[in-house]
Amino acid sequence: MNTLLEEKQRLFDYPAYRDMPGKYQIQNRRFLGNKFKLLDFIADIVHERCDDVKTFVDIFSGTGVVGQRFNSIKTKVISNDILQSNYLPLKAFLGTTKADWDRITQIIDDLNSLNPSRDNYFSKHFGDRYFTLTNARKIGLIRQKIRDMDIDDDSRTVLLTSLIYAVDKVANTVGHYDAFRKKIDMVQPIKLLIPDIDFEANVNNEVYCEDANMLIRKIKSDVLYIDPPYNSRQYCDAYHLLENLATWEKPPVFGVAKKMDRSHLKSKYCLISATQAFKDLIANAKCKHILVSYNNTRETKDCRSNSRIKDPEIISILKNRGSVEVYERDYRAFTTGKSDTDSHTERVFYCEVRN
Ligand SMILES: C[S@@+](CC[C@H](N)C(=O)[O-])C[C@H]1O[C@@H](n2cnc3c(N)ncnc32)[C@H](O)[C@@H]1O
Repeated sequence: MNTLLEEKQRLFDYPAYRDMPGKYQIQNRRFLGNKFKLLDFIADIVHERCDDVKTFVDIFSGTGVVGQRFNSIKTKVISNDILQSNYLPLKAFLGTTKADWDRITQIIDDLNSLNPSRDNYFSKHFGDRYFTLTNARKIGLIRQKIRDMDIDDDSRTVLLTSLIYAVDKVANTVGHYDAFRKKIDMVQPIKLLIPDIDFEANVNNEVYCEDANMLIRKIKSDVLYIDPPYNSRQYCDAYHLLENLATWEKPPVFGVAKKMDRSHLKSKYCLISATQAFKDLIANAKCKHILVSYNNTRETKDCRSNSRIKDPEIISILKNRGSVEVYERDYRAFTTGKSDTDSHTERVFYCEVRN
């Protein structure tokens, strides 16, 4: 195994990578409930309450921006998400990638210059709906080529991440795939770029694609950050298209939104069993500090938007492990709602875990 020093030297052998133009960053995607705008709020709490954070776990990572905020050579970040379409970007941005950057740059140039005229699985189902037909044909062909290429797994992960981020930029949607806009106005050609990765900070990190309640039994940390889905809207529904593209098993798709079967991806945190799942997660956490983000949008007639776990339940479950304090900040969020934004108070429940 490489020592830390050898690993750092290996990473610094990529000056060409560092100067490459046209890079994208981890936060450059539209993702419901992402905490990018709340990073200062979360970081203030961590800095106030948690000394010397050697391990930070972001167990419902989504985009991974929270883990990224604490990522440094001194802090090991463990990221995790149940969806492959989140796991692949997490692995590329926050994992210990050994990708072949010269090869990747060349491949991305080649993929960007493709100009297919024939239909494929992706264009048949998603062309003239979520994308222009031209972009959909190109996305399907690029995905197939990435599957068929003779390259190492880390390089393939980076290429798929570039594809997922590029797809998001040309999708004819409001940022999720529950529906597409009737009029296609995202007509710019799709273009893959290179991810901007902080290799030096990543050397100790780990990335998983597991149910949080399974993973919690295997890991330990100083800080455990928990940001589960809070209502009945499943992320596998909102991001079915990216998941379909990431896994590329070409399943049958149904209905106007062209969703595949997602029964194996449903999260307990969106179901009536959410409180039980949360209780189990907290009971099995091996850490010194727990931070929980949980939305408090007003109760509405549309039961799908209502929070699955009520505040008194969150507090009482956390109190089984230690003292609890609630931090609050006003916030305008990116949501699935018709207005696209929603004002509410964002809270973090902090628990200092007893020995
Ligand atoms: C609110 S989002 C997290 C947003 C994230 N903090 C960010 O800033 O991008 C919740 C995430 O949890 C994932 N998820 C849902 N149920 C899960 C489970 N049982 N285990 C692991 N991940 C899960 C979803 O796929 C989604 O990406």
